Amino acid sequence: MHKIIALFLLAFTAAAQSSIPALIPAPQTLEPGTGAFAITAQTRLSILTPAADVRKMVIDNLPGIPASDAPKLTKAITVRVAPVTGVGPEGYDLLVTPIGITLTAPEPAGIFYGLQTMRQLLPVNKSFRDQSVPALHIRDQPRFGWRGLMLDVSRHFFDKVFVKRFIDQMAQYKFNIFHWHLTDDQGWRIQINSLPKLTEVGAWRVPRTGRWWDIENPQAGEIPSYGGFYTQDDIREIVRYAQERHITIVPEIDMPGHIMSAIAAYPNLTCGKKQVVVPPNGKFYKLEDNTLNPCDDSTYLFIDKVFTEIAQLFPGPYIHVGGDEAYKGFWEKCDACKATMAANNLKNVDELQSYFIKRVEKIVQSKGKKLIGWDEILEGGLAPDATVMSWRGMKGGIEAARQGHPVIMTPYQFCYLDLYQGEASAEPSTYGISRLSTAYSFDPIPDSATAPGINAKLILGGQGNLWAENVPNVRHAEYMVWPRAFALSEVLWSPKAQRSWPNFVNRMEAHFKRFDAQDVNYSRSVYNPIITLKKHPMGMMEIMLSHELPDTYLYYSTDNTVPDDHFPLYTQPFLMPKGADRVKVVAYRNGKPIGRMVELTLPDMEKRVQ
Ligand code: ACM
Repeated sequence: MHKIIALFLLAFTAAAQSSIPALIPAPQTLEPGTGAFAITAQTRLSILTPAADVRKMVIDNLPGIPASDAPKLTKAITVRVAPVTGVGPEGYDLLVTPIGITLTAPEPAGIFYGLQTMRQLLPVNKSFRDQSVPALHIRDQPRFGWRGLMLDVSRHFFDKVFVKRFIDQMAQYKFNIFHWHLTDDQGWRIQINSLPKLTEVGAWRVPRTGRWWDIENPQAGEIPSYGGFYTQDDIREIVRYAQERHITIVPEIDMPGHIMSAIAAYPNLTCGKKQVVVPPNGKFYKLEDNTLNPCDDSTYLFIDKVFTEIAQLFPGPYIHVGGDEAYKGFWEKCDACKATMAANNLKNVDELQSYFIKRVEKIVQSKGKKLIGWDEILEGGLAPDATVMSWRGMKGGIEAARQGHPVIMTPYQFCYLDLYQGEASAEPSTYGISRLSTAYSFDPIPDSATAPGINAKLILGGQGNLWAENVPNVRHAEYMVWPRAFALSEVLWSPKAQRSWPNFVNRMEAHFKRFDAQDVNYSRSVYNPIITLKKHPMGMMEIMLSHELPDTYLYYSTDNTVPDDHFPLYTQPFLMPKGADRVKVVAYRNGKPIGRMVELTLPDMEKRVQ
């Protein structure tokens, strides 16, 4: 095993010299061979497994190479579903020699992942004709069975075309779960035939541009013209599209909070039954009730109707019911809730939410599905068979696993793709920070010191989440997802022992070129310098500079001139000189400037250290 790992590292050294193209996520083992396989006009696909879906998958992923059923083909690409020693259901074996390529996997999913690896061994090209594949032997399988990305389509709506494009990108990097956050306060995005107002009313809000926290409330009489939704035909089309890429969709219908869009359509869903509009912002929180009434049977009839249709549309095993950030202040004042709590011996509103989620779980199970919820569903007691998605750090996940429940780890510090990914002064406004190198350092398995004795098998995997409050268009969605999702794909697929940040950075840069060729947007924020600040006890501002990339040099000015590599080289924290009103910083790597010049004025610094 050690020999193979050593060879694997050797292979990546070779990759830097461009004989073996950069692979993301890194495979479990890779042994370089000698020579290459040349794909010519005579090359044929020999698909030895007759299943139509396997055949289609191979042909779709290797365009321009004809399939042939002739026996004894030489110089062919041979694909076969068959057992491979030591390889599980998503694994594969890929052998490339000068006389042929053989891809073998125990299940079609493994064939799919082997094909994605093969695609990365070739240039991004409409046809693979006249390319050559370096000789090698890869044996590969994922570390985790849950490799997810979440897309919020409520706060801003992303159409069907983009959702398919997103799924395509996921598939290239071996993600297998698309968590689709279909509903929230700001928009209901899925057609429910038995409740037509959910989309007639709930899918539309007033148009707004600007920073999320500054967005103004609707004016009286203003037309709710921004929004959209997926018809059930759209959903079926996207489900099929994802299935062809071995991606399971997990639909989320967030409740009991985060559901103002449905309440705007059906005001009887809350305790106060007040008519509200779909909000364009989050300013109503705690002021207007956006929480379902847990004490009225009609609420559960509503949920039953929604989940009946959701279960019919989505073949995957899960329905995500949210459960996060529900404001329960209106429940505390509601007579019906007080009566329900007394009758059911519920001590507080957390237990009332637990009562609600337990009833919801019964509905989910009656449709043949399993319930997932955010870690707030722990409060007041978990529903008996719930799976927990841990977002407020790892704590909730650890607790759920202790109680014997399956867990998906998506702690915001590592996994939230809506947060700043670089120096904030050079980024569109958002909140918090989660750098690329932080995402790359994520481990879904908590260390044994913080979680002694938990069963690691209960940790199904992890997931990156793109919340869309501050994502007004599809190009920005891609900017926020990539390259952090490259990092997460490797965290979730590749053996932890092999992780290497400098090596990942090299491969990432090769994938930037692939995305350029595919016209996929991504962020280059990792090239920018990072400024951190401390207020000196004497009142001066102390500046610390850093950079995520290895072998990088930082030069700065404090006199409002534009620094280059003749300016002071940063070696240690320094104080802003008296009279200076700003700092400007540039990064150099291999003798060339990289990224943006970042600049912070003293007033900006003062705001940041507060
Ligand atoms: C969440 O971020 N509210 C799950």
